[in-house]
Amino acid sequence: MSTITVTGYKEAQQTLSLPDLTQALYDEGAALMSDVLVNLHGEDHKSRRALEMKVFRRDFFSYYEKEVLPPVVEETLRQFVAEGKGDVVEIGYRAMIGLTADFAGIDRLQRTSEETADLVRLLRVFGNAATVGQFKGTPQETEELKQLIVDGMREFDERFFGPSVARREALLAKFKNGEIGEDALPRDILTLLLRNELNLELPRERILRETAFYFLAGAHTSIHSLSHAMHEIFTLCERNPAERERLEKDVLFLQRCVHESFRLHPSSPVSKRKAVCPMSLPTGDAATTSDTIVIDLYQANRQTEVFGEDAKSFNPYRTKIPSRMPYGITFGVGVHTCLGKNLAAGDLPTPNTDPETHQLGTVTLLARAFLAHGARPDPSQKAEQDLSTERETWLSYPIVFAK
Ligand code: HEM
Repeated sequence: MSTITVTGYKEAQQTLSLPDLTQALYDEGAALMSDVLVNLHGEDHKSRRALEMKVFRRDFFSYYEKEVLPPVVEETLRQFVAEGKGDVVEIGYRAMIGLTADFAGIDRLQRTSEETADLVRLLRVFGNAATVGQFKGTPQETEELKQLIVDGMREFDERFFGPSVARREALLAKFKNGEIGEDALPRDILTLLLRNELNLELPRERILRETAFYFLAGAHTSIHSLSHAMHEIFTLCERNPAERERLEKDVLFLQRCVHESFRLHPSSPVSKRKAVCPMSLPTGDAATTSDTIVIDLYQANRQTEVFGEDAKSFNPYRTKIPSRMPYGITFGVGVHTCLGKNLAAGDLPTPNTDPETHQLGTVTLLARAFLAHGARPDPSQKAEQDLSTERETWLSYPIVFAK
């Protein structure tokens, strides 16, 4: 039983594309992660992904970016801008929560700030389900963390999931009776799972976990990527103050900075897999079914042969970039490639791109709003990194708004 680590960029891509490797990163977070999409293999994965893909149409991403997100961002920022200060992480949570709840199919019945705060609290708890395998605490602390996830799932079920299911089941019954048309059905993951057009085996508990997973996957990664991006952008402006104006005016350059930050800071530094049968890996290593294969996204994205001599540095001006992968393999490769990539990262620009209509992605959109309101690091409070996990995460990133 050994660990085989893959750090080369090309080998990492090839390894993630192998069909006989199964997911191994999320075993510890089973209370939420057991049999959710990212943990499925083979036919089970293929059919579940096919069912859920219906939500991920291109027009849906641009609808979210152009119609849903801008007012949510402005509304979220208003209070902080008025106070003259805030925190990138906290604002990120509040802005993304509505978007992903909507997307997953979780109704916010009250739409009060207390309800938002409760959803943020649950999202923070669920975040542990994806990262508990990388937690550095004692065995007892790890058990406590797992219990927190179980309790959070129960609360989520009673307060949010149950009522959301009931509303959708009533709508689906009306739809089946011909009382309403398809366009009156919510376009979200929960509705697709309840409707289950592919007749997959989907008992209630499985739908609960899958919905919670989407609620988590949509928000958590984007929020942490946002804080890394803001840190890189602030550092760039500190080194070269003239770039601040360009970042505020040139959204394509801002998006380029965000993509460069994605490359340096993948939301999980590694992916993990197990072989379903003894096999030879692209690195030449022989893997048995008891070995753990670690694909080091963090190191792969910093390979000098692929990204140039300064691959470890934040350099949005770099010219050595693999085709269509400015963010490297941060969004994964192969059958588990991130379904939300386009939502988070937007489209890649071409020489003819019109910045007015270009899809920027939620992270660039939020970064643009921060800069437009004059966001700068708070000189009186230091940003704090989370040292309890192997993941690179900002716990807090205080800023001031000074226009
Ligand atoms: C910056 C933001 C994001 C990053 C860095 C990211 C990263 C990733 C990565 C690396 C994987 C593959 C995991 C593996 O191979 O083991 C993945 C899968 C996935 N992501 Fe994302 N993600 C982001 C945003 C999102 C968003 C916004 C959504 C949903 C709206 C989303 C939904 C998913 C889903 C459903 C999967 C599982 C796909 C499958 O197994 O078939 N992600 N993501």
